[in-house]
Amino acid sequence: MKKIRNFAVISHVDHGKSTLADRFLELTNTIDKKKMMPQILDSMELEREKGITIKLQPARMEYKGYELNMIDTPGHVDFTYEVSRSLAAIEGVILLVDVLKGLQAQTIANLELAKKQNLKIIPVINKIDLINKDDALDLERLESVKKELKQLVDFEIIEISSKTGLGVERVLDRIIKDIPEPIIDDKECRALIFDFQYDSFKGVVAYIRILSGEINKGDEIYLINSKTRGKVKEVGYFKPERIVLDKLSAGEIGYVFLGLKDSEKVKIGDTITQYGLEVEALEGYKDPKPVVFISVFPEDSDNWMLLKQSLGKLQLNDPAITFKPESKSAIGRGFRCGFLGLLHAEITLERIKREFNIELISSAPSVSYRIIDSKNNELEINSVMDWPDPSKVKKILEQYSELKIVAPIDYLGGVLDMVSSYSPQTEYLSDKKILITCLMPFREIMSDFYDRLKGVTQGYGSMDYKFNSWVEADLVKLEILVMGEVRESLSMIVPKNRAYAIAKTSLEKLKSVFPQQQFSVPLQARVGGNIISRQTVRARRKDVTAPLYGGDITRKRKLLEKQKKGKKKLAQSANIRIPQSVYWKMFKRD
Ligand code: GTP
Repeated sequence: MKKIRNFAVISHVDHGKSTLADRFLELTNTIDKKKMMPQILDSMELEREKGITIKLQPARMEYKGYELNMIDTPGHVDFTYEVSRSLAAIEGVILLVDVLKGLQAQTIANLELAKKQNLKIIPVINKIDLINKDDALDLERLESVKKELKQLVDFEIIEISSKTGLGVERVLDRIIKDIPEPIIDDKECRALIFDFQYDSFKGVVAYIRILSGEINKGDEIYLINSKTRGKVKEVGYFKPERIVLDKLSAGEIGYVFLGLKDSEKVKIGDTITQYGLEVEALEGYKDPKPVVFISVFPEDSDNWMLLKQSLGKLQLNDPAITFKPESKSAIGRGFRCGFLGLLHAEITLERIKREFNIELISSAPSVSYRIIDSKNNELEINSVMDWPDPSKVKKILEQYSELKIVAPIDYLGGVLDMVSSYSPQTEYLSDKKILITCLMPFREIMSDFYDRLKGVTQGYGSMDYKFNSWVEADLVKLEILVMGEVRESLSMIVPKNRAYAIAKTSLEKLKSVFPQQQFSVPLQARVGGNIISRQTVRARRKDVTAPLYGGDITRKRKLLEKQKKGKKKLAQSANIRIPQSVYWKMFKRD
């Protein structure tokens, strides 16, 4: 077997993973210097625009006689599933920490994932160029980050700058020295599919890690779980562009064109083997559970089918997206889609617009609830539209998440105020940084929690969350009425004891983002038939008397009276279409 090392770079968002990957690709002469550009592995337009990694991206390099297979991963909590899939295909990770930020919530969460997989962890402190070693304060900062890291990973730390390249070669040497070579479990062919792409000419391409045996061009293969046969049209590796080979062997990471056009037949986590072999499937991945739900409609209803196909294609390489047809909405036919978070939702909807050219209308995001009715039936709902009549509800359960907040100690008071109702536990990560853990309703985390956290910690606080349990809750449906008409897309589920306060702030916010009309628009909030709050969007004023030069007061009055009547009539017949931007402004998290 060749000398192989398979690894990933993991960290909190923006600590420099993709920049480190750039230096690796340069140092190993994998990419021509002339073709190099910053964060080259972030190849999607949206990734480059937003400066974040959304998709995992493998790349193979040759270094000192070794084949290094690297996977660059995203850092944002919404894309953790991309990280966990990558980790199943490798033997070690580089845990990257920004020297100015130190440990953050996602550093800890990703480290836990790596530990669970028993991966070798190489701790690396990045952006060392931002530290002035003659400055006592800077040195203290560096020492403090080292202390934080040492507490979590007891292994020699490397200090580097991905920007200048300082120390990066040492990281490559440590990968060779410390990350174990792949273990080959038996001789039969088995390969794990950790990602998919769709190529409009060649069909489905699977990203694979071969655990044992080999896959050659032309092989008849079999996907064990989906019971699908295929014929290998092409095999190869990523450089990061696809490079064709004759075969892929045990221990290697690469791609296979399966000879399939139908994306519905395949599933991430499946095992590929040679057709005719009796082998057991690999463990694969647990299906990710969507936690945020949004109804999505094509602006042009003729595009419904196109939207369905686009969602199917996106789902192929992002199995965390779920969707099912929904028709009972006033907006028309659409899909109820599930996502792993608000950023995941926003990115996916933006991809549909850009990659498939479909303009969309979407509802406000919601989380899911379990309702136990009077006959003890259990029902899981994720749309406020499906909220049952309160008289039929015996019990309501909502999701609680384990929330982890990492913040500098100076902000501890502010953070604790935010979570004081949820018995927070604190743990010192160093003398400067603290980890706060608590169980909290996911609904609250999804509201403006993150913005508030950034506010009280001046941007230094970070958070991570994962599902913990279903907990009984006293919730009601808060309906929002615009011009006396219920707008389901703006309605929400809220705790009963906070309904008044939430109604008030929601209407104030709605008023501030609602476009002015020629007439005034009443906004109301209602719970169980009672209006509990009210606001009015004032009419856009046009001075109809402006063309008059002095003259008779009665003429002025007449004109104003006519305007008033006209507005009243307009208001009566108005059917206000609320622009999508209003929904996003109401619910978006930056
Ligand atoms: P996500 O994939 O979104 O989590 O980000 P990432 O971890 O891949 O970070 P990325 O490489 O995109 O870098 C984030 C920012 O940090 C960019 O503006 C980089 O230019 C900058 N950066 C990365 N490494 C260094 C470094 O060593 N020194 C300095 N000064 N800046 C760096």
